[in-house]
Amino acid sequence: MSRLSKDSVIGVIGAGTMGSGIAQLAATSGHNVVLYDSFTGASAKAVERIRTTLEGLVKKGKINEAGLNTILSKIKVANSLNDFAPCGLVIEAVIEELEIKKDLFRKLEAVCEPSAILATNTSSISVTSIAAACKGSGRVMGVHFFNPAPVMPLVEIIPGLATDNAMLKEVTELIQSWGKTTVQAKDTPGFIVNRVARPFYGEAIRIYEEGIAHYADIDWAIKEIGGFRMGPFELMDFIGNDVNYMVTETVWKQMFFDPRYKPSITQKRLSEAGYFGRKTGKGYYDYSENAAQPELSKDMESGKQVFMRIISMLINEAYEALYYKIATREDLETAMTKGVNYPKGLLAWGNELGLKNVLNTLENLYETYKEERYRPGLLLKQSAK
Ligand SMILES: NC(=O)c1ccc[n+]([C@@H]2O[C@H](COP(=O)([O-])OP(=O)(O)OC[C@H]3O[C@@H](n4cnc5c(N)ncnc54)[C@H](O)[C@@H]3O)[C@@H](O)[C@H]2O)c1
Repeated sequence: MSRLSKDSVIGVIGAGTMGSGIAQLAATSGHNVVLYDSFTGASAKAVERIRTTLEGLVKKGKINEAGLNTILSKIKVANSLNDFAPCGLVIEAVIEELEIKKDLFRKLEAVCEPSAILATNTSSISVTSIAAACKGSGRVMGVHFFNPAPVMPLVEIIPGLATDNAMLKEVTELIQSWGKTTVQAKDTPGFIVNRVARPFYGEAIRIYEEGIAHYADIDWAIKEIGGFRMGPFELMDFIGNDVNYMVTETVWKQMFFDPRYKPSITQKRLSEAGYFGRKTGKGYYDYSENAAQPELSKDMESGKQVFMRIISMLINEAYEALYYKIATREDLETAMTKGVNYPKGLLAWGNELGLKNVLNTLENLYETYKEERYRPGLLLKQSAK
């Protein structure tokens, strides 16, 4: 019998982008929510943001006014961590810094009931390293939501080395009851999505840096030929070049500088310049009104080569993740289609394109550049045979 239920109070720490989304989701799913942020006024601002989002849903007819009020009434702004005492599950979504997260988990352990489950929404820090702050590290796990949390269907569930299996199952079932699709990932850098997706950005930038194709043409090829909803440069501008750079650099460092994940100077410069993308009005593209947009060459032959290079790198990454048991075959496919809206799972896509073609593409790149980033993984090589 699961201890977590609709009656469980959900604690959310950090009332920024992710924390406010998670609080909205939990309250919409019927829970009483306690929301805390150390920055004065941040939680109140988050509640206002949630109200605005809910008002949008009322306008669209998805909820009514009474529903809006019920959801908002369920979110209580906490004055201190002591207000987390009644929580059955606490989800931490503060800034991405290990020492700050460890300090919070240490404090939570002192405040919460021994049965309370403590989860982190970290994108790139090891769950095990956060859990190490607690004496009872069995109740600590990762629950990685995607932005915006109320909308994106995927949640990656990440057990740390000591996580209690029964507790992991309870949290997985609870989050599924909130309408989410869950996948389980090994506690390794980038978990599933932020690891497997790296070449979508990195290889696209590399092709652009080499002058093989303009970024707008790369975006065109990926959408036109690959059927992706957004090209890599549009997506980086959407995510924020600052955020995307930070994730790339973190994964690369944590993978002990594996050249497959090497960040790009181009992206670093955009980030340094404040060209974050949509949120600052300029990234690769100019988002100001009436700004001129790059002209497309729509060269199908070049587009096919660009697409094949990027998709082969992605498929290789998915095979590596499978080989190293980061996730099951099924969860890998689900993660990429539901977490980043890929039109197909990468393993299935490999079969469709022909694994021999994928392998050939990588071997040709490896032969040409003699760079480790293009090395095909063992499982891909074996499967292609
Ligand atoms: N933004 C995303 O797309 C995204 C997606 C998935 C996961 N994440 C992860 O979620 C977490 C939060 O990210 P975000 O984008 O919401 O950040 P954010 O900067 O929008 O919000 C972080 C909030 O945490 C608060 N905070 C900082 N230190 C605190 C402390 N000691 N106690 C309480 N509150 C504190 C800040 O005042 C801020 O309001 C990070 O771990 C991030 O890696 C982010």
